[in-house]
Amino acid sequence: MPRTNGQTHRAGYDEETRARLSADAAAIKARYPQERSALLPMLHLVQSEDGYVSPRGIAFCAAELGLTTAEVSAVATFYTQYKRHPNGTYTVGVCTNTLCAIMGGDAIWEELSDHLGIGHDETTDDGAITLERVECNAACDYAPVVMVNWEFFDNQTPDSAVALADELTAGHPVTPTRGAHSVCTFKEMSRVLAGFGDGRADEGIGAGGPTLAGTVLAREQGWVAPPFPADAEASTKTPARGTRTTKAPAASHAPKPGGEQSSAERPATTPGDVSPARRTTKKQSDDAKES
Ligand code: FES
Repeated sequence: MPRTNGQTHRAGYDEETRARLSADAAAIKARYPQERSALLPMLHLVQSEDGYVSPRGIAFCAAELGLTTAEVSAVATFYTQYKRHPNGTYTVGVCTNTLCAIMGGDAIWEELSDHLGIGHDETTDDGAITLERVECNAACDYAPVVMVNWEFFDNQTPDSAVALADELTAGHPVTPTRGAHSVCTFKEMSRVLAGFGDGRADEGIGAGGPTLAGTVLAREQGWVAPPFPADAEASTKTPARGTRTTKAPAASHAPKPGGEQSSAERPATTPGDVSPARRTTKKQSDDAKES
């Protein structure tokens, strides 16, 4: 696929394609109480068809959701996962966030960028690979990490990353370190992100040894998370000195989404919970009491 400047796909979809996309759009919209809420998966649907958020895709989303093309564009240009020009078959994302960077991510990036002859958000001339610096994928325990269409390739080196890119360029199948057993194309991945599963979500392990190490250690030591304030107040027992085990939160006090004990609404328990303005007000109040 030759590189383009994103000026393709200006004409609308043909009748058959539009009917197919409209059926998908109806399924997406049915998930939400308000149709406009369906915009994010709709944009992924467009990418699954065109390989990026095309002008005709923007017009399609606007027509389906009762939005203006300006409103659709405003959202599509905000998130980096929405591509403004045709993407390669594979997005190779090198994590250069803090931990991966110091574990070798920066070196991997330099090597891959030199090897492929492209920079961030650029695509090889054959259309195989779009290279990206990506932020933390919550896979720091396997740093440095490279993602291919959001599948994990853990503990990479510059040499292994180049070998991976060469396999992708040659059209050979590659096997992620965790999760799905194979890597699909950018368009196929975009359809999954639109909410149409491909049946591979439960393939492979989700959490390996390094991810579970903390949990295993906590269980061995009998450590649990501290209770919520209400549970602490209800507790009448004082733990023995040096005891690191605390009573697990009672089920009746477990935070519920949107409930009073959500993190946004629970009472302040530490100085860090209080905003500078509130701290000032409290200090003024305390000063007034003392005078
Ligand atoms: S810093 Fe790379 S996965 Fe977290």
